Amino acid sequence: MHTDKCGKKRVFAPVVETTRLTDDIVRLVFEAPQIAAGDQPGQFVAIRAGQTDAPLLRRPFSIGGCDERGRIEIVFRIIGVGTQLLAARRPGETLDVIGPLGRPFEIGPDARDLHSCSQAQDARPARAGVICLVAGGLGAPPIVFLARTLRSLGIPAVLYYGVRTKSELALLGNVENEVQRLVVSTDDGTAGHRGVISEVVAREIGDDASIYACGPRPLLEALICLARERNLPAQLSFEQQMACGVGACMGCSIETARGYQRVCTEGPVFPAEIFFAPQKTNQ
Ligand SMILES: Cc1cc2nc3c(=O)[nH]c(=O)nc-3n(C[C@H](O)[C@H](O)[C@H](O)COP(=O)(O)OP(=O)(O)OC[C@H]3O[C@@H](n4cnc5c(N)ncnc54)[C@H](O)[C@@H]3O)c2cc1C
Ligand code: FES
Repeated sequence: MHTDKCGKKRVFAPVVETTRLTDDIVRLVFEAPQIAAGDQPGQFVAIRAGQTDAPLLRRPFSIGGCDERGRIEIVFRIIGVGTQLLAARRPGETLDVIGPLGRPFEIGPDARDLHSCSQAQDARPARAGVICLVAGGLGAPPIVFLARTLRSLGIPAVLYYGVRTKSELALLGNVENEVQRLVVSTDDGTAGHRGVISEVVAREIGDDASIYACGPRPLLEALICLARERNLPAQLSFEQQMACGVGACMGCSIETARGYQRVCTEGPVFPAEIFFAPQKTNQ
């Protein structure tokens, strides 16, 4: 194992389990207690997908949870060569993994105070309001990890989850036991509300809510608008194609109202207000 000065570690981790949750969604568990000891919801790992040097670039995946034995779970959709190779990995094989990477969700006094407290265990939200977790599709793993962490801290949360169709609800596992209330939407109406989850959130959410979200870009954009209109604190986890994964290449930069930010190091979790365009003033 190699540890760098930022605390991220490179480990060779045995695969414990590879399970198909749907035709193209896979749950993979590997044992990496060195990474699990310091990880927090919202952080990710960068994995070399194959057993050779090809493909060269590591693939980033959100940490979906870890247990007391140091087993880390990721859940991913097979979309290209890297995820195909990972889906074919079998128990006993070794994965080359770097992590934990990136900025986590902060469970601080206010979701606006992103990155202000590094120890989730010591944190308590001072706002009396409702914690709203929002996930879309493959945005579920970090939000499920966050739901479990909040539950372990005794903090109630409502989880809003939107998927294309009912079978993809398998991504949630037994998360309904971890949250106060689970609200589901499907694009095709096969379970829960028909339509997109951001519309359900906008209808139901109160003015005392704090939002923690991960999912496709249109969902995050809708939540940025909602946060701005209703003056709600929100932390949003972004995905972007990555090359180095450690802040060196700038390849993962996204544009914000405060300039370009690297998703792999300044993110992947960002406070919504850094995307608010500056207000126009009448001179
Ligand atoms: C911080 C972070 C966390 C992530 N967590 C998860 C997760 O928990 N589960 C999961 O399924 N995926 C997650 N992803 C996305 C995942 O990294 C990509 O799906 C994976 O790298 C694709 O590898 P591939 O070799 O199979 O596909 P490639 O052959 O590399 O790409 C196939 C196609 O997908 C597009 N693509 C690749 N990566 C991305 C991306 N990040 N965003 C949008 N389009 C992309 C490519 O442009 C191409 O069209 C995460 C990405 C980031 C940055
Ligand atoms: S992927 Fe290289 S800087 Fe983020």
